[in-house]
Amino acid sequence: MKILLLGADGQVGWALQRSLLPLGDVMPSTRADMDLTNLALVRDAVCRHAPDIIVNAAAYTAVDKAESEVALANRINADVVEVLAEETQRLGGWLIHYSTDYVFNGRNPRPYVETDAPDPLSAYGASKLRGEEAIRKVGCRHMIFRTSWVYAVRGSNFPKTILRLARTRDELRVVSDQIGAPTSADLIADVTALALAQAIRAPEGAPSGLGGTYHLAAAGQTSWHAFACHILRLAVGRGLSLKVGPDRVVPIATVDYPSPAKRIANSRLATDKLRSTFGLSLPPWETHAERFMAELSPESV
Ligand SMILES: NC(=O)c1ccc[n+]([C@@H]2O[C@H](COP(=O)([O-])OP(=O)(O)OC[C@H]3O[C@@H](n4cnc5c(N)ncnc54)[C@H](OP(=O)(O)O)[C@@H]3O)[C@@H](O)[C@H]2O)c1
Repeated sequence: MKILLLGADGQVGWALQRSLLPLGDVMPSTRADMDLTNLALVRDAVCRHAPDIIVNAAAYTAVDKAESEVALANRINADVVEVLAEETQRLGGWLIHYSTDYVFNGRNPRPYVETDAPDPLSAYGASKLRGEEAIRKVGCRHMIFRTSWVYAVRGSNFPKTILRLARTRDELRVVSDQIGAPTSADLIADVTALALAQAIRAPEGAPSGLGGTYHLAAAGQTSWHAFACHILRLAVGRGLSLKVGPDRVVPIATVDYPSPAKRIANSRLATDKLRSTFGLSLPPWETHAERFMAELSPESV
């Protein structure tokens, strides 16, 4: 199996470089190898490599900046994805792609299921939805994993920002009225590999086999505020020296933290479809948070 992995240096891409190895010959591609803004280059590269599977972990993920860079966000999150879908269809392979809780408006009173109607509130969310729609329109064999609140030891993310600020600031103010499940890039990568291993071996009977859209998030839920406190408690437990401990994190409302892009109140994703289709269990979000703290070196914060 030849697997072309795009976005190999990102949080999820880096984790996938390891998780996908047992499935075949992984060809990691970073921005230095292929600038995704050049669609012709992308098409040529896919033709040249002729992969059996494309795993697209690349994305424009700067949620606030996307409000002023709509064209670029759409290019990376939708136009490139359409090219990948067309080439996958031509090659008869699989396209694995990632999307986001931000395709929803967050007003659902319960966790979102895959069939809930999308209604993105931000340019980023809209661009990711366009990417999903492009894949479905082209009709190649695919799996789209919608995930949420991604973090990893490598890369920039919420827990690392909290740890950095807790070392320098006197007080932290963190939003407490947005809820979701922090999901580690390692979990996303492992689940991707396990699902993919089943999908590529499934009988060809149904037109798309095990393909489709799946929600992929750790079990449980929390708020950004409670997540920040949890991370700081783990840090204190590991002897990290902080100026702000968990008891000095002030909960604030979303309206008190204005940002260019609208954030959604409910990021919870129901994962029943993923778990029942592939027979997988998803650990509580706290499990990977502990691993994250155990693996993080103080210098990398
Ligand atoms: N992060 C989250 O909280 C979150 C939440 C829900 C869903 N998701 C989705 O999960 C997936 C993985 O996210 P992530 O957190 O791993 O993202 P990430 O760490 O930001 O990685 C994205 C990768 O895409 C690459 N990329 C962006 N523009 C490029 C371009 N023009 N040419 C080549 N490469 C380019 C980046 O390269 P550089 O490093 O060179 O910029 C980076 O390696 C994405 O589809 C994202 O939308 C993420």
